[in-house]
Amino acid sequence: MKHLLKLGDLTTAEIISILDLADTLKKENKEGIAHHHLKGKTLGMIFTKSSTRTRVSFEVGMYQLGGNALFLSGNDLQIGRGEPIEDTARVLSRFLDGIMIRTFKQDDVEKLAEYGSIPIVNGLTDYCHPCQVLADLQTIREFKGALNSLKLAFIGDGNNMANSLIVGCIKVGMSVSIACPNGYEPDAEIVKWGYAQGKLEITDSPLKAAENADVIYTDVWASMGQEGEAAIRQKAFEGFQVNDVLMSKAKADAMVLHCLPAHRGEEITAEVLEAHANEIFEEAENRLHAQKAVLVTLMK
Ligand code: CP
Ligand code: NVA
Repeated sequence: MKHLLKLGDLTTAEIISILDLADTLKKENKEGIAHHHLKGKTLGMIFTKSSTRTRVSFEVGMYQLGGNALFLSGNDLQIGRGEPIEDTARVLSRFLDGIMIRTFKQDDVEKLAEYGSIPIVNGLTDYCHPCQVLADLQTIREFKGALNSLKLAFIGDGNNMANSLIVGCIKVGMSVSIACPNGYEPDAEIVKWGYAQGKLEITDSPLKAAENADVIYTDVWASMGQEGEAAIRQKAFEGFQVNDVLMSKAKADAMVLHCLPAHRGEEITAEVLEAHANEIFEEAENRLHAQKAVLVTLMK
């Protein structure tokens, strides 16, 4: 494994090995055992979108691994003034040991990997969010004991989260039901792949998707970059809320996950979020552990 550009590039064994290492690093962290696997290494973190969890967990993660992290805002880098990604990749590869990038186009992340000579980690694009789903899988395994045969229902927009959840969950033996309004389906190629695995259902009925689910997952209706569509989307997603009625369809011990930030009263009620805060904030914490596992795997 040279990069983490999207989960589709990883084998099941590679995903499980990251989850196992994430559990080990989490345990060592809790016990106060130092693990300076990346001593003297520097990670560059390019952001052309906002972030709380991704930025802080990568930066703290590098520190805990004995290395350094540089926050590089897209506005301040010359890419913000039109310097090609191909040149940025070749220059940064001479200074850094790895790059985490959060941006709009998946193609920019792929180009960074093609032209650079150091590991590239996708910290979210419009297409996918692989780091989040690795933390999600770590959290599900932690709460449920295993992943195989579990059902995850994703309620909402067929966005970057839906795309990565379909790939990540199916690769570890889970089944996925997506409930989204017509016209808001996940990526067509990913849907085709999911159907071919026999583990995917796409429906416009949230209650049907939630039936017997072990995990209910949701995300915002308007992602970063779609702020201008917020009003249209609020209308389109009416009825796609994770609330008590929807939860009554899922298994009695179903967990609720949300990548955060959450909009209470839109995709999830405050009641459901608070009732499942235990899982949701453990999920947020696991960003740190899962990403440290990715960094060690790629950069050690
Ligand atoms: N879930 C997630 O990626 O959060 P941030 O946007 O705060 O990084
Ligand atoms: N779908 C959301 C995820 C944020 C972590 C977005 O892209 O804004």
